[in-house]
Amino acid sequence: MAGKSLLKKIQTVQMEKISKYFQGVAANRNIDLTIRGGEILGLLGENGAGKTTLMNILYGLYRPDGGRILIDGVEATFRSPRDAIRAGIGMVHQHFMLVQNHTVVENIVLGDGEAPFLFPQRAVEQKLLKFQELYGLKVPPYARVWQLSAGEQQRVEIVKALMQGADLLILDEPTSVLTPLESRDLFSILRRMAGEGHGVVIISHKLEEILDLCHRVVVLRKGEVVGEADTKGVTKEELARMMVGRSVVFSFDWKPAPKGEVVLQVEGITVRSDRGTVAVKNVDLSVHRREIVGIAGVAGNGQRELVEAITGLRKVESGRIRILGKDITNQSARVIHAEGVAHIPEERIRFGTVPNLLIYENAVLKRHHFAPFSDVLFLDYSEIKSHAVDLVEQFTVAAPSIRVPMKHLSGGNIQKLIVGREVSAGPALLVASHPTYGLDVGATEYIRKQLLKRREEGEAVLLVSEDLEEILELSDRIAVMFEGHIVGILNRQEATIEQIGLLMGGVRS
Ligand SMILES: Nc1ncnc2c1ncn2[C@@H]1O[C@H](COP(=O)(O)OP(=O)(O)O)[C@@H](O)[C@H]1O
Ligand SMILES: [Mg+2]
Repeated sequence: MAGKSLLKKIQTVQMEKISKYFQGVAANRNIDLTIRGGEILGLLGENGAGKTTLMNILYGLYRPDGGRILIDGVEATFRSPRDAIRAGIGMVHQHFMLVQNHTVVENIVLGDGEAPFLFPQRAVEQKLLKFQELYGLKVPPYARVWQLSAGEQQRVEIVKALMQGADLLILDEPTSVLTPLESRDLFSILRRMAGEGHGVVIISHKLEEILDLCHRVVVLRKGEVVGEADTKGVTKEELARMMVGRSVVFSFDWKPAPKGEVVLQVEGITVRSDRGTVAVKNVDLSVHRREIVGIAGVAGNGQRELVEAITGLRKVESGRIRILGKDITNQSARVIHAEGVAHIPEERIRFGTVPNLLIYENAVLKRHHFAPFSDVLFLDYSEIKSHAVDLVEQFTVAAPSIRVPMKHLSGGNIQKLIVGREVSAGPALLVASHPTYGLDVGATEYIRKQLLKRREEGEAVLLVSEDLEEILELSDRIAVMFEGHIVGILNRQEATIEQIGLLMGGVRS
């Protein structure tokens, strides 16, 4: 067993000038971070801020492109998690890595590289009892993992890390899978661990739990450290501001316009996620003509499931959805599209286009079976091609010809074609999911202008984006989602970045 004495603990871990690039994009830039034994440190930041990357580096999963790690003043090089574990660092990932068919004990033994082939299960059991006594970490030794709740599985991961000798324990968004009661139990375990001299790092975007649990908080934004504070001396408001940063820029070409009739009416819908958990909880929402409603929130708070329910890609469990007064609840995506709902999907390459089809074929996807592109029996190719040429011109798609496969276009040009295709059908409602994600500045501006144009032309737009700047620039009203609820709807005029940040962090006024 690699377990160390329970007395000797890491005093400090220093990460110095850590940088990490993915395909040239900085996920971490010159990050300095100190973690101390006996301290619970919160790592706070929006999605994509670089929190997981930074901790994966400390856990030996990624090699940094720059910077170094010192453990109690001695430089450490981790080629794999095994090296990090040997140095006393453990990590519980967002998605557990247990073998479902094995028992708790088997999973724990499996993780121990130095365990003899025939490991005495009794010895493990005794250790388990010790952790239960010390930290309140209760796990059923001979249950199979699939029989355990998320909270129990998480405890198994923690026990496993401790058995491997973890002095410093990193937890990536540990409460995202827990009930409030389980979260409370987890926090009390973590407090007891810190009390015994363990260092704890908890990644989270939830302001209240960071303030409740942590001694100190470090805030990341866009790969950099933007703030650090003792939680005793900082308010939720200050943290919210650090997390979302930027001053409010209502610069764009947005002009006030009186909103028209209701186009989308969502009434108390409940929707489940792929995992079967309730992802959208009794949500009400309306979008009017001449209005853009932006949905803000950290990813994974139900936005995707809400959009999928509206566009017919996911079943609604209860509640109603109406388009221009007509009930479309649980109709097929095709019927809903025909009722006037267009969709710019989140994963545009996978769901927005057929990469191997030619541009002109992609230009009429979903509409090829309607006039004017088709009569009862035949597709009208000259009509389709002239429509494609129009789209390419009108939406400034850079393409050598409409006869090249879609996959040869850049991301920005693919998106322009999708937007053009969806908009040209003249939908009453355009649902845009992360429409500028990953696009360059030029394409981004172009797409945003197109959304504003829809609004000016009197149509309704539902915009889902993690880019707060985009939401603020474009939206008439901003709805914030947190844990499946719409926790607040703000009018553009009265919205402040701080309010939105608080709502995104789960703090209701
Ligand atoms: N394995 C990877 N390959 C490419 N890009 C990645 C990878 N992991 C993370 N990124 C990118 O790095 C940035 C930071 O991501 P991440 O560390 O997961 O942020 P956070 O945990 O704060 O949400 C994001 O832009 C993300 O898309
Ligand atoms: Mg993460």
